Amino acid sequence: MVSNPVSLPSYRALEWQGDELTGSLKLIDQTVLPTQLKHIDGNTVELIWEAIKQLKVRGAPAIGVAAAYGIVVGLQPLFQPGAEVSRREFDRQLAKVAKYLAESRPTAVNLFWAIQRMEQVAKDHPQCSAADLQQRLLLEAQAIETEDRAMCARLGEFGASLLPTNTGILTHCNTGGLATAGDGTAFAALAHAHAAGKRIHVYADETRPLLQGARLTMWELMQRGIPCTLITDSMAGQVMKEGRIGAAIVGADRITARGDAANKIGTYSVAVLCHYHKIPFYVSAPSSTFDLTLIEGKSIPIEERVSTEITHPGGAQLAPAGANVYNPAFDFAPAELITAIITEKGIIQPVTEANVRKVLSA
Ligand code: MRU
Repeated sequence: MVSNPVSLPSYRALEWQGDELTGSLKLIDQTVLPTQLKHIDGNTVELIWEAIKQLKVRGAPAIGVAAAYGIVVGLQPLFQPGAEVSRREFDRQLAKVAKYLAESRPTAVNLFWAIQRMEQVAKDHPQCSAADLQQRLLLEAQAIETEDRAMCARLGEFGASLLPTNTGILTHCNTGGLATAGDGTAFAALAHAHAAGKRIHVYADETRPLLQGARLTMWELMQRGIPCTLITDSMAGQVMKEGRIGAAIVGADRITARGDAANKIGTYSVAVLCHYHKIPFYVSAPSSTFDLTLIEGKSIPIEERVSTEITHPGGAQLAPAGANVYNPAFDFAPAELITAIITEKGIIQPVTEANVRKVLSA
């Protein structure tokens, strides 16, 4: 295993500021990167919901952390100066805020996982006053964030141990510090491998239509001095054919019990191309990304987004007015196409339901 310590990125996708009653969630607005590094002050649950919906904060683990803090922020209006908040009232508002945040995006299971964890705190403390519970909820959100950072470090170590040296590594979408509370999932493997002296050159798919690869992954790779080249999604097959790619590594938004892994649209194509070219295809994700209630990838809810993301990229019209558009934001790589799934609990290889359950229960 490669155990070189890797420093965390200097930027943070999310940062809690203040206490449980008046604090807020500071977020990098990822929709304006890389040309502007702007922050949003998430001081209402509506702002946090909108930030998740509009991909100002994005990436499965980061969405989960944002939603956890969103619950704290969403309960703050109850605590007006001098107000006596009953536990009943608190629980009612908690259920309302949890439901609201759960409707922001459907695919990344980390969102629902984090919300459930927050709701569980209330269930576990039926005797607690509203004020005490609000404090506990902030502690839980902070624990979710801290755990995510630790999981990223493990994913980085495990992932780097699998990556070959002296070769190109293909990645898709953005899985770095911007997508997590730490240094990423698949991205952490790249950062760890680079820090450990592996000679890798990252090929980043631009990731149509919202260009998380071009805008965000390239920005993070360049910030960290990792050798990299940007390609369009449709070039992935050609760079593989030219022998430039020794492995591909991606993140995930939801992984089923049999190991089917949903991730940004285009991931399935990368997996198929890797299979054809006999290139290892790795998925890296924390255990919070697994949904063991689902067996098959086809049961994963796939978010469909507005047509203008395709017809008007960056606001400029590209397609004829009125063009029919299909815009699924995710697809899934079936387990048979995945060489290994890297989790903070260990590496799942071969990817079978028995191995998924075994590694996750460790
Ligand atoms: O729509 P996005 O940008 O939230 O999609 C993100 C991805 O698909 C990532 O690859 C995934 O969430 C893993 S992030 C560590």
